[in-house]
Amino acid sequence: MEFEREYARAVELVERELDGCLRDEVPQRELLDAMRYSLLAGGKRIRPVLTLKFCQGLCGSMEPALDYACGVEMLHTYSLIHDDLPCMDNDDLRRGKPTCHKVYGECNAVLAGDALQAEAFRRMAASRRSAGPEANARACAILGEAAGALTGICAGQYLDMSGEGRTLTEEELTRIHLWKTAALLKAACLLGLAASPVPASPEQLAGAETYALQLGIAFQIRDDMLDQESTTQELGKPVGSDADNGKQTFAALYGLDRCRQLVEEHTRLAKEAVDGLFSNSEFLCRLAEELAGRSH
Ligand code: IPE
Ligand code: IPE
Ligand code: MG
Ligand code: MG
Ligand code: MG
Repeated sequence: MEFEREYARAVELVERELDGCLRDEVPQRELLDAMRYSLLAGGKRIRPVLTLKFCQGLCGSMEPALDYACGVEMLHTYSLIHDDLPCMDNDDLRRGKPTCHKVYGECNAVLAGDALQAEAFRRMAASRRSAGPEANARACAILGEAAGALTGICAGQYLDMSGEGRTLTEEELTRIHLWKTAALLKAACLLGLAASPVPASPEQLAGAETYALQLGIAFQIRDDMLDQESTTQELGKPVGSDADNGKQTFAALYGLDRCRQLVEEHTRLAKEAVDGLFSNSEFLCRLAEELAGRSH
């Protein structure tokens, strides 16, 4: 099947699942609306696609990973809602729409993020589609590590915020990228393997991890470049936000040409890491290429 159709098929599965969430008629309906507003605002869904595709690459089916795919997208959406808050990047536009706090207020945006994170773990822990309760426990540990304060999103976001207004070294910047972005992409891939009833070999686990980390670094370098060279219209989020916030980025450190080279290098390493290891390695390689050249 051609790449675009295959990607669209995975997105369709996730969208349908996510659209079924958080529909309860409860007194706190507005909070659920705030969660759904950001969750269903039409992101690229890269992380859940990775989860589904790594599962499929191992066992031939995406179905066992569907709850984990929803979990990783919920956690990602929480991180975006909080990232946009006035106390963080203070951005007004996300996924082409006003940010959650602009529509629902700061208090509800904080709670919507908190609750999306909780729902991600609840859903994965309770999954009946995955390989079983042990897989669910492992999945929660994987996601917890990616979200946390040691080597996960909170660690990366802390360093990102405390680095504002300062010149960072390449090493410091790489650490931020690894923790705030690559960690969740790594989790997305490993969750797909964890969900599969066919276990991954040590080589497959190592390959998936390297793929995800290289993809993650390339992804955040590309994100930094787009903040400089794209348009708000194309991006669906405000361009120039990093410079406005005094954030050091790879684009500022190296210039756009060197960034383009770096994205290519990391993408090549990502592709090499999964070559021949999964039944759908061709799809995974093409995905890495698409992300390297993405315009939003
Ligand atoms: C944005 O992630 C945040 C970063 C880690 C750079 P995406 O570019 O995947 O955002 P959506 O999900 O498509 O909106
Ligand atoms: C954010 O990085 C990564 C997250 C953990 C959300 P950015 O702050 O660069 O993401 P954007 O550009 O706002 O999407
Ligand atoms: Mg940020
Ligand atoms: Mg931001
Ligand atoms: Mg950015």
